[in-house]
Amino acid sequence: MEKLIVKGGTRLQGTIPVSGCKNAVLPIAVAASILGDGTSVLHNVPNLTDVKTLGAVLEGLSATIKFKNATLYIEPINHLEYEAPYDLVRKMRASIYVLGPLVAKLGKAKVSFPGGCAIGPRPIDLHIRGLEQLGAEVNVEKGYIYAQAERLVGTEMDLIGQHGPSVGATANVMMAATLAQGTTVIRNAAREPHISDLAHFLKAMGADIEGIGTSTLTIHGVKQLRGTEHTVISDDIEAGTYIVAGAITRGDVYVKGITPKQIPAISEKLVEAGVELDWDANGVRVTTPREIQPINVTTAPFPGFPTDMQAQIMGLLCLASGTSVIAENVHTDRFIHAAELNRMGANIMLDDSEATIKGVAKLSGAPVMASDLRAGAVLVAAGMAATGETAVSRVYHIDRGYESIEKKLNDVGANITRVNE
Ligand code: UD1
Repeated sequence: MEKLIVKGGTRLQGTIPVSGCKNAVLPIAVAASILGDGTSVLHNVPNLTDVKTLGAVLEGLSATIKFKNATLYIEPINHLEYEAPYDLVRKMRASIYVLGPLVAKLGKAKVSFPGGCAIGPRPIDLHIRGLEQLGAEVNVEKGYIYAQAERLVGTEMDLIGQHGPSVGATANVMMAATLAQGTTVIRNAAREPHISDLAHFLKAMGADIEGIGTSTLTIHGVKQLRGTEHTVISDDIEAGTYIVAGAITRGDVYVKGITPKQIPAISEKLVEAGVELDWDANGVRVTTPREIQPINVTTAPFPGFPTDMQAQIMGLLCLASGTSVIAENVHTDRFIHAAELNRMGANIMLDDSEATIKGVAKLSGAPVMASDLRAGAVLVAAGMAATGETAVSRVYHIDRGYESIEKKLNDVGANITRVNE
């Protein structure tokens, strides 16, 4: 296993390019592989282990996937395979995205039931409920979800869950509904930018979708979808992470390839914390001339503050001039990184789904462990701001969602080395 050795006390200066959005690529590659009837070409695809893992799931379903120079070439499945096995699905929960498209296209699916992960239990009841409402018969047996339907039939449904709209259920049901008979209306649909990107891709394939970017999606089913060419949007969370990296090192960085519309809540909260964001048409210049101000943050579905940025902003607030409170309302157990930050000298107290962060004057380097990809990212950022050396182990989590993290950061002045443990 590899770890990252981060030498602290560096100030970032220069341009950090943002890669394509992981959470957009995953469902788009599924749609291209299962729903399409011809070759699709996706541009701006990040080189990530999650993309490779999904590629293996899709190849297992008989799609042909080729990845070269940030471009993914996809020949769809040959309509024989409908099983996504445990060995592949357990590596990445997003494999559940194949469920709806397989039933829509082949009339049946057998997909391993995804397990829990470090950020909480993560149920899939909304995915199943949505597909049942489209007329699928869904059973869970021996760790597998079996779903079948001669042809899905459009209907009206509300996909609100206990913690608000669900990104995954919205994507799964929207993909399935494109080939259903009649019209499907999804109320309380997720509105994340990657859901809109998926919807735009499906439209380019020939799907008929209204309400993109709103919480009501109307999908008029069509008989067939074609392959198409698409450029994936840039990654909002990667951009947010590098903005925090600039701020926590008191640097002067330009994060290139992001728009304010993609990260409204992240921008608002960082500005409230004293980070200066100077936007232009291609990206944002980040400087932090004053002390970091303590703030309160509550995570929520888009356009609220994303749970996927909760760890990173916590890292920044560890160095604020007062006490901040973060309420985690999406993945309520997602706080494993707090204990690791405390190992670096932070002062974070947890109470259920709330973290109270008392700002400290400095962090000091320590051996720490990444528990998920965003937790890993904050430890790298904190390591750059800390005195001394931080060794971040379990880097494979970070590699799931950050393309060439140490290269991008070293190019702007960080001192990070990847070594074998
Ligand atoms: C996606 C993202 C993940 C992000 C999350 C929330 C991908 C591949 N992953 O995950 O990085 O943290 O959105 O922005 O895009 N829920 C249910 N029942 C369900 C589904 C979800 O109760 O059937 C709950 C979840 O436990 C969670 C909340 O709804 O509390 C939101 O989860 P959801 O939006 O579905 O997250 P994912 O799609 O799994």
